[in-house]
Amino acid sequence: MTPRLQGKQAIITGAGRGIGKAIARKFLSEGARIVICDIVHERVATAARELDEMGEVAALAGDVSQPAFCDELVQYAVDKLGSLNVLVNNAGIALFAPFLEQSEADWDRTMAVNLKSMFLLGQRAARVMIAQGLGGAIVNMASTNGLMGERDLAAYNASKGGVVLLTKTMAIELAPYDIRVNCVAPGSIRTDLASDGGVGETFIQDYLRKIPMRRHGTVDEVANLFAYLASDEASYITGDAVVIDGGQIAEE
Ligand SMILES: NC(=O)c1ccc[n+]([C@@H]2O[C@H](COP(=O)([O-])OP(=O)(O)OC[C@H]3O[C@@H](n4cnc5c(N)ncnc54)[C@H](O)[C@@H]3O)[C@@H](O)[C@H]2O)c1
Repeated sequence: MTPRLQGKQAIITGAGRGIGKAIARKFLSEGARIVICDIVHERVATAARELDEMGEVAALAGDVSQPAFCDELVQYAVDKLGSLNVLVNNAGIALFAPFLEQSEADWDRTMAVNLKSMFLLGQRAARVMIAQGLGGAIVNMASTNGLMGERDLAAYNASKGGVVLLTKTMAIELAPYDIRVNCVAPGSIRTDLASDGGVGETFIQDYLRKIPMRRHGTVDEVANLFAYLASDEASYITGDAVVIDGGQIAEE
C-alpha cells in the first residue's frame, strides 16, 4: 500500500514535543517530507535528531506569532522541500486563571500564539500553494474548548473558538484553489500543556469523570486524524472541525 502522505511536503508547527511531535512522526511514517518548528530551540533540534532516521526532516526555531518568523518559515520550507502541500498549525499555549484574574498580557499572548499565528502562516502558505497551482491542505489545531466553555480558560477558549471560524472562512475562500482547510478539536490529551499552564495532577485525573471512555487521549490518536485530514483520502472534507475526545462533548 502506498503511504498516504507520499509526495507531500509539510510544515508542522510546535513540533518539539507533545502532539506536534507525534504528528511529525506520523507524517514521516506516511511518506511526507517535513519542516518542523518550535519556539524552544533545543526542543526542536532534539526532535529533528530523533525523527531523522524516519525520513526527511528539517527544523527551524522561532515564534509563530511573529510575522517575520512566519515569512522565514514558509520560505525555509520551500527552499528545503521544493514545494509545499500541507500546513499543520499546531503550536499553542494554555494559561489557566480565573476570568476575573486573567492578565491582559496572558490574553494577548494566548491570542497571538493560538489564533494570530494561524492567520499569518495560513495566509503565507496558501499564497505559495496558489502560486504552485497544485492545491493543498491546511489543518489547524482547535480544541473542544473552541466548541464549548470551560472555567479558568477564557482566553484559550476564545482563541480556539476563533480557530474554528477562521478555519471555516479560509475553507470557503480557498476552495476555488483546491486548498482544503479543516481543524481538529481534541478533548483531553496527555501532554505537558496543562501542567505547564499551571494545572495539577489531581485536576488532570479528576477530569476523567467528564469523559465517557474514562481515559485521556494519546498524542498518536490525534496525529492519526491530522494525517487523514492532510491526505487525499479526505479530498471532499473542508471547513470542518473534527472532534476527537472520547465522547466528552457528546455527553456534556
Ligand atoms: N493536550 C491537550 O489536551 C490538547 C487538547 C486540545 C487541543 N490541544 C492543542 O494542541 C496543540 C499542542 O498542544 P500539546 O498538548 O502538544 O502541548 P505542548 O505544550 O506539549 O506542545 C506545544 C508545543 O508548541 C510550542 N510552542 C508554544 N508556543 C509557540 C510559539 N509561539 N511558536 C512556536 N512554537 C510554540 C511549545 O514549545 C511546545 O513544544 C496546542 O495548540 C493545544 O492547544 C491540546
